[in-house]
Amino acid sequence: MTARWWQKGVIYQIYPRSFQDMDGDGIGDLKGIARRLDYLAELGIDAIWISPIYPSPMADFGYDVADYRGIDPRFGTLADFDALLAAAHARGMKLLLDFVPNHSSDQHPWFIESRASRTNPKRDWYIWRDAAPGGGPPNNWISDFGGSAWQWDEATGQYYYHAFLKEQPDLNWRNPDLRAAMMDVLRFWLDRGVDGFRIDVLWHMVKAADFPDNPPNPDYRPSMGEMHSLLQLHSTDQPEIHDIAAEMRRLADCYGDRVLIGEIYLPLDRLMHYYGREQAGVHLPFNFQLIEAPWNARGLAQMIAAYEAALPPGGWPNWVLGNHDRPRIAARLGEAQARVATMLLLTLRGTPTLYYGDELGIGHVEIAADRVQDPRELREPGLGLGRDPVRTPMPWDESPNAGFTTGTPWLPLNPDWPMRNVARQAGEPGSPLMLHRRLLALRRTHAALSIGDIRLIDTEGDMLAYERHADGERLLVALNLGHDPQRFVPPRWARGACLLLSTIDDPVAGDGEALMFRPDEGMILAPQDNS
Ligand code: NOJ
Ligand code: MG
Repeated sequence: MTARWWQKGVIYQIYPRSFQDMDGDGIGDLKGIARRLDYLAELGIDAIWISPIYPSPMADFGYDVADYRGIDPRFGTLADFDALLAAAHARGMKLLLDFVPNHSSDQHPWFIESRASRTNPKRDWYIWRDAAPGGGPPNNWISDFGGSAWQWDEATGQYYYHAFLKEQPDLNWRNPDLRAAMMDVLRFWLDRGVDGFRIDVLWHMVKAADFPDNPPNPDYRPSMGEMHSLLQLHSTDQPEIHDIAAEMRRLADCYGDRVLIGEIYLPLDRLMHYYGREQAGVHLPFNFQLIEAPWNARGLAQMIAAYEAALPPGGWPNWVLGNHDRPRIAARLGEAQARVATMLLLTLRGTPTLYYGDELGIGHVEIAADRVQDPRELREPGLGLGRDPVRTPMPWDESPNAGFTTGTPWLPLNPDWPMRNVARQAGEPGSPLMLHRRLLALRRTHAALSIGDIRLIDTEGDMLAYERHADGERLLVALNLGHDPQRFVPPRWARGACLLLSTIDDPVAGDGEALMFRPDEGMILAPQDNS
């Protein structure tokens, strides 16, 4: 079986507001992405996923869509989009859009109709309920951004449901007309030539038909955010979602080599259902375990083994280290260990997704109170749940505003941008950017690293090690996940192996059979008799 592009390839997520601004409004745009395609080609990624670019009031920065078939003027025009798609394809890169099916904007014409009257033909395209007997919301469900998930509509005397902001009413996927209309949206973009979609909150799309209360979460602490006070037992992950995912999959398959990636935050056993029976679901249910797991060798080894073991027959793995919702990896682990994490991401079996800016090792960016943009932070301030710190503009060079904009950037840059930017790192052999380029190049030339099998190797201490092999080639990846030096004895077949790449850019030391790993060092090794 030959591997598909989305199995071999590496995906790169762009948060479009923050990548490159071309018109001086301080907000990134499609022309900006087009300008930077050569950078992405040189980096060595295979596919770009762009967070939403559709017309939007921007209550949730594009995840509140007011027109599923257009481009927000802040980002450009449909012609700009077509040009970007063609330019990406001309460089052999794929382009994925973000499909947001769970909810629209409250400014979407469908919702404006739906709220016009109880008898409007589109009333049932959203989720309307009477008040509870005695008044108040229909049940106890809580928005993911805090507060009741139900919003009272004075004019029609009912509540509507919103899993996120009240400006993001949930669509009713139990309504066949809504479902058909959304499938048409997918067709619209597939016909235009997009290579697939990242599907926003796929597991949220269907709710229990009778809307029972969610049970309390026994492990809740207020610092988690109010959404975690309840278990989302009835508001998410309903069995009917799999039929919808299968319909999307059938459609995507009609177009040939397209990919569907589901955003799903669920425990492993639940997550696996999203591959669908006999692979009829999404191609890649996002695997966020590297974002969520405690960073230690034993735990990660067990997690990798459990994930591999849980995959259904034919299910292709994938790994994510960062996205626009979670703290940056270098903020979490520090720059040195983030380099090891990158080596892990790019050498595990499965499709990796990189997050823009992580290739520069950008760390935590403090956002002053008067510059906060994220509605998540504004609704539950001070818990550290705000997402602005991971959405700051890409620093390109040493010109004003790091070359991101000639205007005022919508969010501040990483304060170390004069040193930490693309132009500077491109000239430094040991920079995070060059490590990414070298890892991506290695992955491209060694099939073992992309589509090869994986076998975990028993280790001690902070070492995590595994073997990858394909077509008779066998490689060893060994990572020191700790901040102390580690002695590591490779398996017999890899003794005296030669170093293909270390996360630390100077020669390695050994003492006979063992390799000495420096703090935060990862290595990829090839045995001498490999080729
Ligand atoms: C998940 C997205 O990743 C997040 O940024 C957004 O706020 C919610 N879905 C709502 O669309
Ligand atoms: Mg702009």
